[in-house]
Amino acid sequence: MYHGTLVFATGNTNKVKEVQALVGSDVAVKSLHDLGYFNELSETHDTLEGNALEKAQFIFEKFGENCFSEDTGLEVEALNGEPGVYSARYAGPDKGAEDNMALLLEKLKGQTNRKARFRTVISLIIDGKEFRFEGIVEGQILEARKGTAGFGYDPIFQPTGYDRSFAEMSLAEKAPISHRGKAVSQLLEFLKFF
Ligand code: IMP
Repeated sequence: MYHGTLVFATGNTNKVKEVQALVGSDVAVKSLHDLGYFNELSETHDTLEGNALEKAQFIFEKFGENCFSEDTGLEVEALNGEPGVYSARYAGPDKGAEDNMALLLEKLKGQTNRKARFRTVISLIIDGKEFRFEGIVEGQILEARKGTAGFGYDPIFQPTGYDRSFAEMSLAEKAPISHRGKAVSQLLEFLKFF
């Protein structure tokens, strides 16, 4: 089992709490705020892998602490993987989830292939060495929004095998089948046997 501290290279304290609850007391998960770092981390690559590594590497080099970071994208088959790494700012730099969903629905108008997947990549750096984990949930883009829970593209994404969108699921139901949940459980398995 990995013992000690791991910095989660994110400013989102909810994500940090979620992971801390999963790893138990052997590992202390710290956020960037715990390190006194409050800036946005740059994401200058055009792949999830590139951005995840960039963020983890930056923090490892700056603070010398073992750390991990994640990057997520929604990949739509008929759009050659768009919006992918640009999911958060698909409709423009200062647009939100509503605009992103509207743009995606517009681009898929009349399209019968609605296959899509969420993909999360986690980059973990221990003593300067990178380990990578991936979580994928397959599904489809609905014709219209359904449900109000969750965030981002949840109202228009329906995972395969379910007749409800992510936004119609509770967090307890979504978490274990989601991209992020799967990537985090891979990370936890790795830490268990480290
Ligand atoms: P991040 O890397 O976790 O910040 O995710 C990037 C973008 O992908 C977010 O801004 C959302 O638009 C989208 N996204 C990530 N995870 C989810 C999810 O679980 N549901 C819906 N949208 C998501």
